[in-house]
Amino acid sequence: MRKVTKIAVIPGDGIGVEVISEGVKVLNHIEKLDPDVNFHFEYFPWGCEFYNKTGKMMDENAMDVLKSFDAIYLGAVGFPGVPDHISLWDLLLRIRKGFNQYINVRPIKLLEGVKETLAYVPNDEIDMTVIRENVEGEYFGAGEWLFKGTDKETVLQTGVFTREGTERVIRYAFELAKEQNKTLTSISKGNALNYSMVFWDSVFEEVSKEYPEVRTQSYLIDAAVMYFVTDPKRFEIVVTSNLFGDIVTDLGAGIAGGMGLAAGANINPEKEFPSMFEPIHGSAPDIAGQGTANPLAAVWAASQMLEHLGYEEWALKILSAVESVVQKPELLTPDMGGSGVTGDIGNLIIEYL
Ligand code: NAI
Ligand code: MG
Repeated sequence: MRKVTKIAVIPGDGIGVEVISEGVKVLNHIEKLDPDVNFHFEYFPWGCEFYNKTGKMMDENAMDVLKSFDAIYLGAVGFPGVPDHISLWDLLLRIRKGFNQYINVRPIKLLEGVKETLAYVPNDEIDMTVIRENVEGEYFGAGEWLFKGTDKETVLQTGVFTREGTERVIRYAFELAKEQNKTLTSISKGNALNYSMVFWDSVFEEVSKEYPEVRTQSYLIDAAVMYFVTDPKRFEIVVTSNLFGDIVTDLGAGIAGGMGLAAGANINPEKEFPSMFEPIHGSAPDIAGQGTANPLAAVWAASQMLEHLGYEEWALKILSAVESVVQKPELLTPDMGGSGVTGDIGNLIIEYL
């Protein structure tokens, strides 16, 4: 019997639904091509529409249900009418934290054929992988809202950086840099954040001693974002905190073809829990329902998922199909300069497979 790979699909809201359906199309096709691949997809209707009906973003027992899957494939969540902090915290962050997906891997690569955003930077100079801490730091959720509605109103939002959490993400990045023979850059802000980021820098320094073969750099976040734009070839593997990683990867998407091409993997390296794969963009209410959303980020995320599940060859094949498809921008969605529709892009990928 072929091993069944169980994938939980949460299309979510807005264009999430549209782009995930293209990714699943591609995965279904791979299943047809390869007798050793057998996916079982189960769909969960969680998200803002579900919230409007039930008052919850997911079912009560969602985490128990999801736990039995090999991976989670997520579109995007969030929609006008439901406060963003609710949709984010009660679904996305709940899964990331609950399943200890403490590594967020975000490739930033300007593919050959994609029109460059930065006129002075050739395509091959934007090729990096950002490793973002994914469960603690600035998004730990610790804080207080005091004296609400009074003139003494005070809010605290506390970053929480544990030794375990900081060390493991930095070590993961060092291992990757070592394996790929690349430089590793830490991005922090030790001058102003005088507890959390001084700590981060010292852990980076400490762990670096175990990897004398890895060449390292350390940048403050403000300088780093400037170099992302003026000289992105400085960056190969990047490791950074939850908030900074969130921000620099959207910037990365901006210089590497836009949100429609940016994928992210939320990894539990121990495989104790399922990992989750998603395009990093949101539900894009401004273009939802028009068939113009670019599904290539979702397809790329499917490639990350297959890599994680041990189907490395198919992961690479999907990526090279994406690289081939972007050579023909006229067939792609408007964000890539074409006049194609979302529902056709999966088929283009399939042709190349
Ligand atoms: P967004 O990523 O949804 O959209 C930003 C801009 O990029 C928009 O102009 C949109 O049209 C465009 N865009 C995004 N993805 C695209 C694609 N695949 N193809 C073509 N154009 C694309 O971010 P925004 O507008 O800040 O947030 C919208 C909603 O999504 C909010 O409710 C937010 O909380 C949620 N969100 C959810 C995320 C997730 O589920 N992982 C991540 C980011 C935002
Ligand atoms: Mg983000």
